Amino acid sequence: MQMQQPLKFDDVLNALKRIAATPLDAATAPPKAIYTLPEMTAHEMDRIFTNEWLCAGRADEVPNPGDFMAFECGDQPLIIIRGTDGSISARSNICRHRMMRLIEGRGNARKFTCPYHAWTYNLDGQLVGAAFMDRTSCFNKSDIQLPSVRCEEYLGWIYVCLDPDVSPVADMLAELTEKLLPYNMQDYVTIFTEDHVWETNWKCLTENFMEGYHLPVAHHDTVGGHFPVEETLFDERGSFAHFTSQLFVKTGTAPVGTAHPDNTSLIGKWRNISVMPTVFPSHMYVLAPDHLWYLALQPDGPGRTRIRYGAALAPEVLAAQADPQSYIAETKAFLDAVQLEDKQLVEGIFVGAKAPLSSPGPLSWLERENHEFTQYLARRLCD
Ligand code: FES
Ligand SMILES: [Fe+2]
Repeated sequence: MQMQQPLKFDDVLNALKRIAATPLDAATAPPKAIYTLPEMTAHEMDRIFTNEWLCAGRADEVPNPGDFMAFECGDQPLIIIRGTDGSISARSNICRHRMMRLIEGRGNARKFTCPYHAWTYNLDGQLVGAAFMDRTSCFNKSDIQLPSVRCEEYLGWIYVCLDPDVSPVADMLAELTEKLLPYNMQDYVTIFTEDHVWETNWKCLTENFMEGYHLPVAHHDTVGGHFPVEETLFDERGSFAHFTSQLFVKTGTAPVGTAHPDNTSLIGKWRNISVMPTVFPSHMYVLAPDHLWYLALQPDGPGRTRIRYGAALAPEVLAAQADPQSYIAETKAFLDAVQLEDKQLVEGIFVGAKAPLSSPGPLSWLERENHEFTQYLARRLCD
């Protein structure tokens, strides 16, 4: 085997475009330089992460007026806030004085006070307090607000976008919505949310999550035994611009993943089916009849990925537990084990992408979604 010569940036984009235009049965994985080049991450920030909807978590993570959580949209720190009117909004998390970050983590507040010189903002982002500014002629408190950012709720998810002109989330995902509605996902109850950083490129993780080919092998000891991958169902309607998805059928032996007897919404075969959407660029989830779990990703350079990872249970499942806390702990331990298996894979793939002797190989029909992701990347990055 020959060592691959490093490609120039334009050559990488041309190679990506070429692979994207190839039918799945003749396609390979994308050129490996898209995972490793720092210029590619900068290009992705410019073409993808500053103008796409990014998932910030679940609406029930901020259930009460004044509840807030920090989220970063690319390089822009945001505060996600449940306002006094019950709606969720997103604002810049940067003080309008000398640009200190205002808040970290999560909590409940009536006001946000900057830790630097105590300028104070209300839940609507209006500056309401600033000491020792009475001799400053260019200061007018009423003119100063935290800039707001697009923020929408969609079936229980919170999405934010720095671009004021993108279409509403529900419009972009209309064809996906019809598949999701019978699951009543908006009622699922969040059981945990965590933030992690893994040593890999964000696309390695996105691609890993969207294919079931690896399940019987790499997840043999956890989820793999209960997914007959040969029964994976792809969307018979074709490909879509803003998402991709597949359906998995659970076998009768699966301990979780099927509808609870109190679930009257899912009928027939749908009681055993999980939907696995990827909302481009980087929000992936497994929506099972009894639970869901998700990842929302952002790059932190080519070799690091920031991950928001969480899970939720269907309300009837939680209500049926004699000991809900134990059930939640068991569910989390199981999902953590799956996550750990994936961490080893995607960090290993990134090592592979940097290796001089590596090259991308052909895809299986089970990796149809990966090819659709390549096509999405080519649309955003190459045109
Ligand atoms: S930077 Fe916030 S009060 Fe000075
Ligand atoms: Fe996996």
